[in-house]
Amino acid sequence: MPSSTPQILCFTACVASLFTVTAVSQSVPAAIQVDEVTHVFRIDAGDTTYEFGVNEKQRLQTLYWGEHLSAKDHPAAAKESSGSASFDAPINTTPQEFVGWGGGLYVEPDLKITFPDGNRDLELRYASHSVRDGVLSVQMKDISLPVVVTLEYKADRETGIIGRRALITNNTGKPLIIESASAATWNLPRGTDYQLRYLSGRWAGEWNVNDRQIQPGKTILESRRGTTGSQNNPWFSIRKSDTTEENGDVWFGGLAWSGSWQIAIEQDQVQQVRVTGGFNTFDFGYNLKPGATLETPWFYAGHTSHGLGDASRRMHRLELHTLIPNAPQPKLRPVLYNSWEATEFKVNDTGQMALAEKAATLGVERFVMDDGWFGARNSDHAGLGDWTVNPQKFPHGLKPLIDKVHSLKMDFGLWVEPEMVNPDSDLYRKHPDWVLNFTGRPRTEGRNQLVLNLARPDVKEYVLGFLDKLLSENDIAFFKWDYNRNWSEPGWPAVAPDEQKNVYVDFTRNFYAILAELRKRHPNVEIESCSGGGSRVDLGVIGLTDEVWTSDNTDAFDRLRIQHGFTQAYAPGIMMAWVTDSPTWVNQRRLSLDYRFLSSMQGSLGIGADLTKFTPAEMETARKMIEAYKSIRETIQRGDLYRLAAPTNGSEISVTESVATDKHQAALFAFLHSSTELYPFPRIHLRGLDSETVYTLRTISGKADDGTPASATGSYWMNHGIDVSLRGDFRAAAFALEAAH
Ligand code: GLA
Repeated sequence: MPSSTPQILCFTACVASLFTVTAVSQSVPAAIQVDEVTHVFRIDAGDTTYEFGVNEKQRLQTLYWGEHLSAKDHPAAAKESSGSASFDAPINTTPQEFVGWGGGLYVEPDLKITFPDGNRDLELRYASHSVRDGVLSVQMKDISLPVVVTLEYKADRETGIIGRRALITNNTGKPLIIESASAATWNLPRGTDYQLRYLSGRWAGEWNVNDRQIQPGKTILESRRGTTGSQNNPWFSIRKSDTTEENGDVWFGGLAWSGSWQIAIEQDQVQQVRVTGGFNTFDFGYNLKPGATLETPWFYAGHTSHGLGDASRRMHRLELHTLIPNAPQPKLRPVLYNSWEATEFKVNDTGQMALAEKAATLGVERFVMDDGWFGARNSDHAGLGDWTVNPQKFPHGLKPLIDKVHSLKMDFGLWVEPEMVNPDSDLYRKHPDWVLNFTGRPRTEGRNQLVLNLARPDVKEYVLGFLDKLLSENDIAFFKWDYNRNWSEPGWPAVAPDEQKNVYVDFTRNFYAILAELRKRHPNVEIESCSGGGSRVDLGVIGLTDEVWTSDNTDAFDRLRIQHGFTQAYAPGIMMAWVTDSPTWVNQRRLSLDYRFLSSMQGSLGIGADLTKFTPAEMETARKMIEAYKSIRETIQRGDLYRLAAPTNGSEISVTESVATDKHQAALFAFLHSSTELYPFPRIHLRGLDSETVYTLRTISGKADDGTPASATGSYWMNHGIDVSLRGDFRAAAFALEAAH
C-alpha cells in the first residue's frame, strides 16, 4: 500500500504530552501519527522517532527506531521479508513488533499459548487501533480464536523513551495457559557491530558492569528467583562498537517488573538484533480464565546518539520526572541515620535514643530503627512475621522513642520485612500453610526464613493489615521494606494444580497493590525498597517507593564500583548510601572518614556508623560533611550525572560530576586508589556547564593544585580543566562550582 501522497491522520492528541508533564520544557513534543494509507504508525518524542507498520500479512513490523526523522520523511508501507529459503519462513526474518508462537517461528516469541484442546498455534494479526490519553493502543487478534492482544505505547517527550506493554484477553470461553508473555520486542537497525552492556551481581557484590559483543545466538538476562534479584538487573544497553561514554548510538531500556523476569537479546539468522522482555518463561504457565486479561509489565526503551552517559541520564530523568512517587518533583531525600550496623538486633529504647541524640547533633533529618524491634527477634532465627513491639526492648511501645526522635527535630523510620516468616514465630505456628511450598516436600530456608505466599488473598490482607496498623498507631514517616531471600519450592497448594503457576504474577501484583494502598491511606509515608541490598531495584518497584538500598556492602571503596554500575540504569537521587564504621566487615580496609563521606555523598546520604564511638573530631567532620552535602544535595539528587572516570577495568581513579538542571551549580568528586611513581592525578575536564557563566570553586574536601583559579568560566573548567592534589592510598577530594550571580 505505499503512497506518494500520504494521508496523515492525527488522533485526538496529535501533539500530546504522553506522560506526566515533565519539569523540563521541550522543543519537540511527543506525537503519535498514523498514516491511514500506508498503515504506518509513527511516534516522535524528544529527539527520537519510532515507526512500525502493518504489513501485507497484517502482521506488525518494526520500521525505524533512532534519531528524530524529518516530518517530510514518509516511510513506505511495511513489507514482509522474503524469508531465507524453505528453512526460515518470512515470519522469522521479518522484524516483528509482537509475534505469537505459531506458523514455524524460531526466534523468541512474544506470546505462547496452550489451548484446552491441545492446539498451541497462535497467529496474531492487526485488527484495529486507537489513541486515548496519550496512549496508542493497537489490537491484534488470532486468525481464528478470540484471543485479543492489545499493545500499548506511550512516549516520554523529554527523553524520547517509549513504554510498551501487552494486554492479553481470553475471549475463548475456556481457560487457557499462557506459557510465555513478553511486554514487547525492540528491533535494532540491521547490523552486526553491536556491544551489549548489562548488569550482574550477588549479595554484597551487586551492580557489576559487563560488556560483550553481540554475536549470532541469544543472551538471556533473567531472574528465576521470584523477585528482581541481583544476578542480573532488568536493564540493557546496546551500542555500536565505537560508541563512548560521550558519543555514539545507544539503545537502552528497562523492564518495570519486580517478579521473575527475562530479557532476551538475540542476533537472529539474518543478523537482526531483537530485544524481547517480559515475564520469565521458565516454569511459567499463567492460567487465564475466560473473560480475563493478563497485563504484562511495561518495558521502557530509548535511543540516544550521545553515548552511554547520555543514555543513563535519560533513564535518570525518566525515573525522576515520570516514574517515581511525586514525579516530576520528587521530594529531596533527607539525610538519614540507620541503626543496623551499630546495633544489629540489639535494639532497645535507651540505645536507640542515645544514637538518635548523636545523630541529631550532626544534622541528620530522619532516624531509622532497623531490624530487631519486634516479636522474639534477637537474632535472624526467630520472630519474622510477628509484627508486635518486643516488650522487653520497648516496655512502653514505640511511642517514647518516636517522641524522642521528634523532639530532636528528626522524623522516624522503621525496618520491616513483610513477606517473610521465621518457622520459629507465632505466625508460622498458626499458619504453616501460608508459605510457598509443595505439599509433602522440604521447605528450604534462607537466612532461617521462608517466603509468605503473597498471592494468597489472606496473606495479602495480613501484610496490608499490620503495615496499615503500624502507620495508623504510630507517627512513622518511613519504612525500610526488606526482603532477604529468594524463592524455593514455589508451590501454592491451596489452588488447583493448573493455577499454581499464577503465583509468579499474582505475588508481584499483590506486592504492588499493598504498596499502592499503603501510599493511598498514608500519603506522606516514604518507603525504601531493600532486598538484602540491591536485589529489588527495577522500574516497577521505583514507581511505588522513594529510594532503594544499593548494597549491604558499605565499604566506601567498593561502593565506587557499585555506584558506577547502579547509575548506568538508576538515578543517584534514589541511591541510598551510608557512611559506616571503618574498617567495614566487608574488606577490613581502613578508610578515612572524609573518604567515606565523599563516596556516599554521590547519592542519597545516610549514616550507618556507631556514633556512640565517634571521637569529638569525627563528630565535627561528620557535621561539616552533612552541612556540605545539604548545600549540593539538590544538584546530586535531581541534576545530571557525568561519569568522568570509571572505577572499573583496573582504573586507579574514579571521578563523577553532577550538574544542576539549570546549571547554576556542579559538584565534583575525585577518588584515588593509590598513587605510584610520582604521577599526578589526571587533569579533570568538567562537562555540562554553561560556557559563558563564571563559576566559583568551593572546596568541600581535599585540595586543588596551586595556581587553580578561584573562579573561571564554564568554558575554562570544561576545556582547560582542573588539577587536584591527590597522592597516597584511598584519597578523595570534592568541590562545588557555584555560578556567580
Ligand atoms: C538486610 C538489609 C540490611 C539490614 C538487615 C537486617 O541484610 O540489607 O540493611 O536491614 O537485613 O536484618
